[in-house]
Amino acid sequence: MNKHLLSITQLSREDVLTAESFREVGTRVIKKVPALRGRTVVNLFYENSTRTRISFELAAKRLSADVINFSTSGSSVAKGESLKDTALTLEAMGADAIVIRHSSSGAPHTLSKWVEASVLNAGDGTHEHPTQALLDLFTIREHFPSIEGVRIAIVGDVRHSRVARSLTFAMATMGGDVTLVGPPTLIPPEAAAWGANVSHDLDGVLPKLDVCYMLRVQKERQRQQFFPSVREYARLFGLSRARVEALPESAVIMHPGPMNRGVEIASDVADLPRAVITDQVTNGIAVRMSLLYLMLGGDRSRVVEEDARLDDAARVEAPSA
Ligand code: CP
Repeated sequence: MNKHLLSITQLSREDVLTAESFREVGTRVIKKVPALRGRTVVNLFYENSTRTRISFELAAKRLSADVINFSTSGSSVAKGESLKDTALTLEAMGADAIVIRHSSSGAPHTLSKWVEASVLNAGDGTHEHPTQALLDLFTIREHFPSIEGVRIAIVGDVRHSRVARSLTFAMATMGGDVTLVGPPTLIPPEAAAWGANVSHDLDGVLPKLDVCYMLRVQKERQRQQFFPSVREYARLFGLSRARVEALPESAVIMHPGPMNRGVEIASDVADLPRAVITDQVTNGIAVRMSLLYLMLGGDRSRVVEEDARLDDAARVEAPSA
């Protein structure tokens, strides 16, 4: 595993599969292992987040690391302190890993040149969101034995979506079959070079899918009008109940969150059993635990010792008759 995780393109097939190694810890009564005891993880978030920030926090805590949550409001960033000085300050306090979300594409890459700590990209501008792609692959593998040949449509605002870029690259690495679907204004011209098919006809694509992955319409990143109205967008590219009927029975529905219910996905569709959106969130913790463990050189012997201790405790609690 690399020292930093800046782009999903850094990872091999094997790296992607190792991201599942901590899944079981999340199902234990005591969800904690001592693998990163004494290490410090900083969540450096310059943009809002619910899932990614809390998931990294829980992942680090379940590995027994110390966690510092940094947000720009209330910090010296509000007084004009630069990203570099902020990062060097946090590193001087002993950060071993910095998890960064930033509105500027490339900020994690730049940060990795300034600090000794491992840098993990938690979403940078319209560039990439590699840990989201890993948790998405993990979730798909819960429903299909292999990603090889899995047919996925990534639907909507591809132009502004770091999730779409990372997931397309990740699916290509694993042998999946990706179609990017959206209005021409929301599919960037370079998308054809990502190893994906492109379509502007959602209804034509739906019957052939294993995974229908809906993207959030990112109004905050759109500096011009990319479609006539939200109503028109929902009519042409929203996943309605009627469109779900066109999917094969085995197909699953995914969304990275946060959702605009009633825009890219109908509210009742988001709550269907085949919409695995909360599973994606749950799986994010295991994926991020694995990454932190692998990147910070966690002590596997401590995990094995903890497993043995828990086994002993279980035997004492449940003596055989
Ligand atoms: N999927 C995702 O990145 O969500 P948050 O913005 O809540 O972290």
